[in-house]
Amino acid sequence: MLLTRKAENFMLRVGIIGARGYTGEELLNLLLQHSQVKINYLTARVDRPVKISELFPQFKNRLDLVCDNFNLSHALESADLFFLALPHTTSMDVAPLLRKRGKKVIDLSADYRLKDFKLYEAWYKAKHKDRKNLKKAVYGLAEIHKADIREADFIANPGCYSALAILSLAPLVKVRPAQIKSIIIDAKSGYSGAGRKSTDGPSWGEIKDNFKAYKVDSHQHTPEIEQELSKLAKKKIKVTFVPHLLPIERGILETIYVRLSVPSASLGTGKCQVSSVKLINMYKDFYKNQPFIRIKNEGEFPSLSDVQHSNFCDIGIKAGKDKKLIIIISAIDNLLKGASGEAVQNMNLMYGFRESEGLPPFETTGQREKIKRFRTGFTI
Ligand SMILES: NC(=O)c1ccc[n+]([C@@H]2O[C@H](COP(=O)([O-])OP(=O)(O)OC[C@H]3O[C@@H](n4cnc5c(N)ncnc54)[C@H](OP(=O)(O)O)[C@@H]3O)[C@@H](O)[C@H]2O)c1
Repeated sequence: MLLTRKAENFMLRVGIIGARGYTGEELLNLLLQHSQVKINYLTARVDRPVKISELFPQFKNRLDLVCDNFNLSHALESADLFFLALPHTTSMDVAPLLRKRGKKVIDLSADYRLKDFKLYEAWYKAKHKDRKNLKKAVYGLAEIHKADIREADFIANPGCYSALAILSLAPLVKVRPAQIKSIIIDAKSGYSGAGRKSTDGPSWGEIKDNFKAYKVDSHQHTPEIEQELSKLAKKKIKVTFVPHLLPIERGILETIYVRLSVPSASLGTGKCQVSSVKLINMYKDFYKNQPFIRIKNEGEFPSLSDVQHSNFCDIGIKAGKDKKLIIIISAIDNLLKGASGEAVQNMNLMYGFRESEGLPPFETTGQREKIKRFRTGFTI
């Protein structure tokens, strides 16, 4: 498929609905680097049509496109794939209009992630208005659902905390579901995770020089994590999830405690001694051939600066001194692997492009420098 499309000089026309938000801006950055994509339609809630470079000066001389309020007929004639970078409850107003006309959709909101609409209604306090498409949307976590994503027309892109928790736990819950007694996820996120236009998000005064927990054991990503882990384990998995807010812009780090019902030394057959090294090897094997997952060696653990501005997910694992405990420490950039990077990775799979096309880190220093200059607005 890749060869055919390259040979035909295939250029995919894409639209971004909600281009002015954090994830919309990040999508613009990524898609401008993509060799087989033409950004052809952009929306924001504006009083008059405005050039995207008026909203984001860093796109001056890079993208000459006007951004306007959503207009269905203009959208339909302009693009074939749409990224919905909208808040939940808004996406499900737009997605059915596009799907009905045969357009492909990658929704970054939570509207199509939870397969049980009652669960959605309970956690998001809103009626689900598009149950037909809810059934069809594929959960877009590339390393877990790659085959389905390749065939999909409609993707429910994961939540940022959820993506990291699921990737961190997938090998363990899939390979050793019977021995898992409890899972505690202690998560810390930069403030961009709440979105630029968040109404329930904290003010800068609350964030600056501060660190605090919020939505303790009641965050809306909890059922999403449980849904996906339960599918992998083929049994019901429950988690305790406590998010915290960091006084930095981007990145999520999770420290996950998995308590076992048996000592880790007797995991599986009872004969094998499960050490940190064996767990690490199990993770390396599970994620072999996955370009964006990096499993740390024994005694090494990720930090946010390892993954910020990249689409990587880094995971470190340790068998606890307490023989019934496994500790997993993992990190992603919430706006990349946790949102727009994952969305572009999904698009690449859907269209048979190279999986890492348009995704950072870029391959050469020259390319990296180019991005840095564009982002900071310098032209040297
Ligand atoms: N931020 C993250 O790390 C992250 C990670 C994973 C998933 N997500 C999800 O991705 C989606 C976008 O997140 P974000 O961080 O980019 O949010 P954001 O910065 O607040 O941007 C959302 C954009 O949606 C537009 N919008 C809001 N209400 C609208 C409405 N009623 N009709 C049309 N447009 C509307 C706004 O456009 P205007 O600017 O034109 O008003 C805004 O720029 C959310 O569902 C979020 O949960 C975010």
